[in-house]
Amino acid sequence: MDPTVAVIGATGAVGEVFLRVAEQREFPMAKLKLLASPRSAGKRLTFRGQQITVEETSEATLEGADIVFCSATSAVSKQWGPWLRERGVIMIDDGSAYRMDADVPLVVPEVNGDDLEWHNHIISIPNCTTTPLVMALNAMRQVAPLKRVTAATYQAVTGTGAAAARELMAQTEAIGRHEAIPPIEVYPQQIALNVLPQVDDFDEDDYTKEELKMRNETRKILHIDGLPFSSTCVRVPVVLSHSEAVHVEFESDAPMKQLHEALRAQEGLVIGEDPKTWVSPLQAANDDRVFVSRLRPDRSVEHGVAFWVVSDNLRKGAATNAIQIAEELIRRGKL
Ligand code: A2P
Repeated sequence: MDPTVAVIGATGAVGEVFLRVAEQREFPMAKLKLLASPRSAGKRLTFRGQQITVEETSEATLEGADIVFCSATSAVSKQWGPWLRERGVIMIDDGSAYRMDADVPLVVPEVNGDDLEWHNHIISIPNCTTTPLVMALNAMRQVAPLKRVTAATYQAVTGTGAAAARELMAQTEAIGRHEAIPPIEVYPQQIALNVLPQVDDFDEDDYTKEELKMRNETRKILHIDGLPFSSTCVRVPVVLSHSEAVHVEFESDAPMKQLHEALRAQEGLVIGEDPKTWVSPLQAANDDRVFVSRLRPDRSVEHGVAFWVVSDNLRKGAATNAIQIAEELIRRGKL
C-alpha cells in the first residue's frame, strides 16, 4: 500500500518545492499531511490540484504517518525525531541535527544509497552545499583517489529560508526606488549588492559551522575519514542555486579525458564538455541536476583540477534528494 506522508515545514522554502517535486515525480502517497508551526494552521496549499489545509505539528497530526519529511529547524527535528523513531516511523530530515550521528545514514542516493540498508528510522540529507560537491567528487574518485579538496561557495539566500529571500527582494526593491533599506533582520549586514563571507555561526578554528558541515559531511558520505578539506562559505545576493569553485588534488594522475568520462557516467550530473562554457545559478534553478563546468587542470599542485559546480539548493540540495531517498527506500523494500 502507498505510504501516508507528512511534511513538517510544508509552508517553508523547501516545503513548497517539496510539493512541486513530489507532483512532478509522481511520488506514491495514500495521504499527504501538511504540517507547520501553529502560525500556519488553517492555511491552504495546493497539491495535485487539491487544496490541503496546513495543520499544527503535533502527536495527533503525525499519527498514522508512515514517512515524515522534516524541513523546519533543528529544534523541531530533535522534538519529533525520537518520537517518530520509537513508533517505527521513518523521518527524512533536512536539518543538521542528526547528520553526524553514527546511527544515522547521511545519504545522496546516487553516491551512497547502500547506507540506507542500516537506517534506524532517522535518515539525514546533507547540507545543500555538500550534495552537489560529493556528486562531483564521487565521480572523480573513480579515476584517482582524492588527496585534498578546497572550495569557495557562492550560496543563495533561499538556503537560509523564505524570510531571507524576502529580505533580499525588499532591499533590492528599496535600492531600485532610491529608498532607505528596510531594517535588516536575517543577515548581519545588507545582502543586496553585497557578499557576506559568513554562513551560519563561527565554530572551531574560526571556521563557520557551514564550512565544518561541508567538510564532515563530505567525509561521511564518501566514507573517507580525515579527507583533507577546507572551504570558505559565502552568501551572495542570488535567490536560487548554490555555486562552488572547487579545487581537487588527487593521489595520482587523473587524466582530463577520464575525468570527463567519469563525470558523464555519474547519474544526476551534467558535465560541460567545453571548458570555456559554464552554467550560472539562474540556469541551474528549478532543475534537479547538478552541473559541473569549467573543469581544467590546476597546475599549482602535482595532480590537481579546478572546476565550477552549481545546483538548485532547494531541489537537489534539499527536496529532490529527500524524495529520492524515499523512492530508494521503496525500491529496496525498506518502506
Ligand atoms: P511556519 O511557516 O508556520 O513558520 P523556512 O526555512 O522557509 O524559514 O521555513 C521553515 C519551516 O519550518 C516553515 O514551514 C515553518 O512553519 C516551519 N516551522 C517553524 N517552527 C516550527 C515548529 N515549531 N513546528 C513545526 N514547524 C515549524
